[in-house]
Amino acid sequence: MAYDNILVETKGGVGIITLDRPEALNALNSALIADVGQALDGFEADENIGCIILTGSAKAFAAGADITEMAPKSYMDVYREDFITANWERVSQCRKPIIAAVAGFALGGGCEMAMMCDFIIAADNAKFGQPEINLGIIPGAGGTQRLTRFVGKSKAMEMVLTGHMMTAEDAERAGLVSRVVALDDLMEETLAAAEKICKLSQPMVMIAKECVNRAYETTLAEGVRFERRMFHSTFSTEDKAEGMAAFLEKRTAQFKHR
Ligand code: CAA
Repeated sequence: MAYDNILVETKGGVGIITLDRPEALNALNSALIADVGQALDGFEADENIGCIILTGSAKAFAAGADITEMAPKSYMDVYREDFITANWERVSQCRKPIIAAVAGFALGGGCEMAMMCDFIIAADNAKFGQPEINLGIIPGAGGTQRLTRFVGKSKAMEMVLTGHMMTAEDAERAGLVSRVVALDDLMEETLAAAEKICKLSQPMVMIAKECVNRAYETTLAEGVRFERRMFHSTFSTEDKAEGMAAFLEKRTAQFKHR
């Protein structure tokens, strides 16, 4: 399938989506978001895909929602079309693991889309920010909520209230990104992480993802109860039997994803 605003490829069990609107620093317009949604649908339906990577260019992961597209919209326009909720949240609803490989600008909706992924590997030139306040609006794709949970109130407030950008190094220190790598190594390092995930039991990876995400949505006691139920349920799977047998027999597990 051909897309106008993204490039889609697979490498083994890894599905790669590259945002591709270089003329607008990958600004996220509705056509691009629809493309991302379709590509994710395809990867989720393909049982050979075990992990997804979302990336952009060396200059920009994405410089935010498309300001040209948003400028003429009224309150009633965005309310009636349920702008953001209707389509952007597809990324946060992805059941398979999805890694953001971020180089350059990840601003506004770009930062928010990266935060919808499961973890972020950043190139050393990455810059994260929520500059919406400069446009007379506020973040609208989860920036005030996810950023605050990831980096804490003080850093989130400074970024959201002033538009201050965080360097890759600061983002790693603050816990926004899992690690920082050299720009030239970004895809290689991200692919290595994705390939590692692909070798594991796909349903276990999906259950583990669901449990970690639950931590952001519930109390500690409820979250631990949820985890315990899910942990118990993993004992009913063929992959649990294979994983433990392989360990005891000192061989590599051959997971069947069942
Ligand atoms: N929307 C539309 N076009 C954008 C864009 C955006 N978010 N960001 C950049 N572009 C376009 C520029 O208009 C420019 O186009 P032209 O060449 O046709 O003039 C092209 O991309 C290159 O950008 P610059 O010339 O500005 O490049 P730069 O290197 O000088 O600056 C930048 C880079 C600091 C990222 C700057 O482009 C910028 O500040 N962009 C806007 C960032 C922003 O405000 N993002 C938040 C958007 S609102 C949002 O995301 C809401 C939400 O929460 C969902």
